[in-house]
Amino acid sequence: MKKIAVLTSGGDAPGMNAAVRAVVRKAAYHGIEVVGVKYGYEGLTNGQFEELDLGSVGSLIQRGGTFLNSARFPEFKEDAVQQKALDNLQAAGIEGLVVIGGDGSYRGAMTLVAKGFPVVGIPGTIDNDVPGTEYTIGFDTALNTVVEAIDKIRDTATSHENSFVVEVMGRDAGDLALWAGLAAGAETVLIPEEAYDLDDIVERLERGAARGKKHSIIIVAEGVMPGHKIAELLEAKTGKKTRVSVLGHMQRGGSPTARDRVLASQFGAYAVELLMEGKAGRAVGVRNHQVIDYDMPEAFQKNHEADMSLYTLMKELSI
Ligand code: F6P
Repeated sequence: MKKIAVLTSGGDAPGMNAAVRAVVRKAAYHGIEVVGVKYGYEGLTNGQFEELDLGSVGSLIQRGGTFLNSARFPEFKEDAVQQKALDNLQAAGIEGLVVIGGDGSYRGAMTLVAKGFPVVGIPGTIDNDVPGTEYTIGFDTALNTVVEAIDKIRDTATSHENSFVVEVMGRDAGDLALWAGLAAGAETVLIPEEAYDLDDIVERLERGAARGKKHSIIIVAEGVMPGHKIAELLEAKTGKKTRVSVLGHMQRGGSPTARDRVLASQFGAYAVELLMEGKAGRAVGVRNHQVIDYDMPEAFQKNHEADMSLYTLMKELSI
């Protein structure tokens, strides 16, 4: 193998740059050239390629976002578009591709694998929702960002004795909300994986108030409902004003944590090894602290499962 390509796709995640850096440097270590594809599958289709050498990924490990840019490109579902991308790869003499993104990005990757082109996937999304791996690149950084924001919200909630609903990202997954709820000591967390009971939430808040607690933090994952909606429902039941904070895209930004940088470095290097071994249609992941690989379709044929033991623990600790 003499030349491979790498792209980032879907919503960006902190640590994507560190993963690209690892791909480039691991490949260089083995004398393999790397081409960076700009704007994900859109750039692949338009032939937006640039050579990446050791220097071009210098001072990137600490930078958030993705210097290759990313895009959502639903047109890649069309066969003619996929064929154009494949033609571009082959015309550039590229023999393998590393795709960094979520399960949607893996679907695109599998269309190229079906056409005989080797692709390996690296999970990169703040949602932590890629089945088959316990962690995705970006989750730890986003989690720390959310916890830091909630700590600050709690300061003002305490001063003014307010109740706050904090809406966090995660698409259809509750990991970000759940882990942040546990780490920030939220009174209640609503996640898509577990049905919520409004009366139970109100009862918990009232129990806290009876103990003298004058503020509360309720985290709602965006996959459940918008923060404003749950605040309205709670206000209607409690008669008390409930403030709302929607954290939004700040959750996707920022310098990756050390943990995300290490994971990204491990994933990037392992993806290159898989391509060198002639593997295709494999996804990289981590299970029980071991970097592993598995059939990429598993990532979109199965549903993501949240760690419900954390949910139980969160409920037990926030009585
Ligand atoms: O997948 C990452 C993510 O940030 C989700 O948490 C969120 O639902 C979505 O992307 C938002 O996407 P966009 O920035 O395209 O609106």
